[in-house]
Amino acid sequence: MKQWRVAILGAGIGAQHLDAFALLPEHFEVTVLCDRDTARAIALAEGCAGIQVEPELQQVLRRTDIDIIDICLPPAMHAPIALQAMAAGKHVICEKPMATSVLEGVQMQRASAEYKRVLNPVFQYRYGHSITQLQALIDADLAGRPLAGACETHWNRTAEYYANPWRGSWAGERGGAIVTHAIHSHDLISRFFGAITQVSAMLDTRVNPIETDDCAALSFATESGALVTSSVTLGAAGDTSRIRLVFDELTVESAREPYAPGQQPWVFQARDTSQQVQVDQCLAAVGEPDPKQQGYAGQFSALAAHLAGEQSDMVSAHDGLRSLELIAAIYESARSGVRMALPLDLSLSICEDWSAGRIVSD
Ligand SMILES: NC(=O)c1ccc[n+]([C@@H]2O[C@H](COP(=O)([O-])OP(=O)(O)OC[C@H]3O[C@@H](n4cnc5c(N)ncnc54)[C@H](O)[C@@H]3O)[C@@H](O)[C@H]2O)c1
Repeated sequence: MKQWRVAILGAGIGAQHLDAFALLPEHFEVTVLCDRDTARAIALAEGCAGIQVEPELQQVLRRTDIDIIDICLPPAMHAPIALQAMAAGKHVICEKPMATSVLEGVQMQRASAEYKRVLNPVFQYRYGHSITQLQALIDADLAGRPLAGACETHWNRTAEYYANPWRGSWAGERGGAIVTHAIHSHDLISRFFGAITQVSAMLDTRVNPIETDDCAALSFATESGALVTSSVTLGAAGDTSRIRLVFDELTVESAREPYAPGQQPWVFQARDTSQQVQVDQCLAAVGEPDPKQQGYAGQFSALAAHLAGEQSDMVSAHDGLRSLELIAAIYESARSGVRMALPLDLSLSICEDWSAGRIVSD
């Protein structure tokens, strides 16, 4: 079994990536941690044998002893660094949002194909015991047809959060709560109901004095025909990420925890109460939660399986690109009041710059 050598770029959320790789020593060895804030990187690397701290991104990209570049940098850096890394022969893991425009995402997908390097956008919410249970119910034909869904991304973000210079601005973050927070729930909707095919959006900035959106009311149609609503605010008490998925034979309610809601127990309710026994048997047959299949560790386990040529539910470059198209469509719908169809025509100007759909305050 091959052990892949990883360089993590960025020591913020990179800390959680490092913890997840540590759960998978049979697949990965983190050998470099790169951050221009060397004190932050040194503090993170402390106690981790074999990790070199490097302040210069370009030095890391030039190294020939790295197989995977794991990008945990501010959003505007994702596409340029991913493109350089793939051209240099590295596989790439990339934090969300995969890029800051649809066309950048297209370039990344093309580079992945051209250089035959894996591009693995991060959607770690997809991995967790409850997610595995839902998939088992679907595979056992106990869910039925997707009908409707609702998600709530109700988080609490204050001035302290926006003290980080790239957050809350169009230049730094390229969007607000729909880019940074709700992106995960929207990805889960696509994961279980099929790609989002239509979107209507209202956005506003109501919580903090920032340039970008922090409240949203969205509605989606999906490939399966299911209709979905998504409510977003960064002015809630506490952080709640919750989804309800209604299939015609099964109603599913997620846990509420952000970052990895699939690690907590979900509620699975058969519509026909006489089927609940079968549902419960199917859930029990999934067995006990495996820490290697949860959250970031689950994301990286799927990548390892893919790299080994095994069957894998790895997040693909296509998944990342669809999430970018959805962001562009949301901004355009909010600006124009028009319901947008997906996938987008790539010649639309919003594919180059979705900030054309930004909210202009009175
Ligand atoms: N998947 C999730 O749940 C999740 C959660 C949090 C953050 N994120 C994403 O991860 C990314 C990083 O977010 P964060 O919260 O860790 O941000 P952060 O600002 O805390 O960390 C980014 C790090 O990158 C370093 N950096 C910036 N420019 C650099 C350069 N030129 N060279 C070297 N180092 C440089 C900074 O010094 C900083 O330590 C963002 O895209 C964010 O959206 C994802």
